[in-house]
Amino acid sequence: MFRIVIENEDDVYMACSIGKKVAAEHGLNKTQQTKLVVSIMELARNIVFYAKRGEIIINDIPSYGIEIIAKDQGPGIPNLDQYIDHAFPSKKGLGLGLSGVKRLMDEFEITTAINMGTRVRAVKWIKEGQGKHNDNITYRP
Ligand SMILES: Nc1ncnc2c1ncn2[C@@H]1O[C@H](COP(=O)(O)OP(=O)(O)OP(=O)(O)O)[C@@H](O)[C@H]1O
Ligand SMILES: [Mg+2]
Repeated sequence: MFRIVIENEDDVYMACSIGKKVAAEHGLNKTQQTKLVVSIMELARNIVFYAKRGEIIINDIPSYGIEIIAKDQGPGIPNLDQYIDHAFPSKKGLGLGLSGVKRLMDEFEITTAINMGTRVRAVKWIKEGQGKHNDNITYRP
């Protein structure tokens, strides 16, 4: 298990590099590795931009997949579902955003609470269709 504190662009890069290495070592193919790395980048950039500080945890689940957890104690996300379900065009719009992460990963869960923070858990499977897709959104205003 790797835990990377995220505060700046160098930390984002570090998390992406570690994610790529772990994914390659655990048998994800190149396409899966790219999807995982892009997802780590999106979540880590969100931490830097909106929460200032947080962490990314990268965990291999043997013969299942790679799990990433992004968490922070930042401002939380008001109107979360507009970003997830409708792929709302974001203000910055430079990346794929949360809806992109949901699309690229095989499991996706997000919990956010105003002034408490945000936690995203996502998994990239090694084999297609081996788990149960879930899509849990928890929002505590
Ligand atoms: N960790 C976070 N803490 C607080 N707010 C967040 C966090 N992550 C995202 N948000 C809010 O949710 C919105 C949507 O995020 P999303 O990543 O989908 O798009 P974006 O960051 O605006 O643009 P981009 O397409 O460049 O990622 C953000 O504009 C921001 O207001
Ligand atoms: Mg973003």
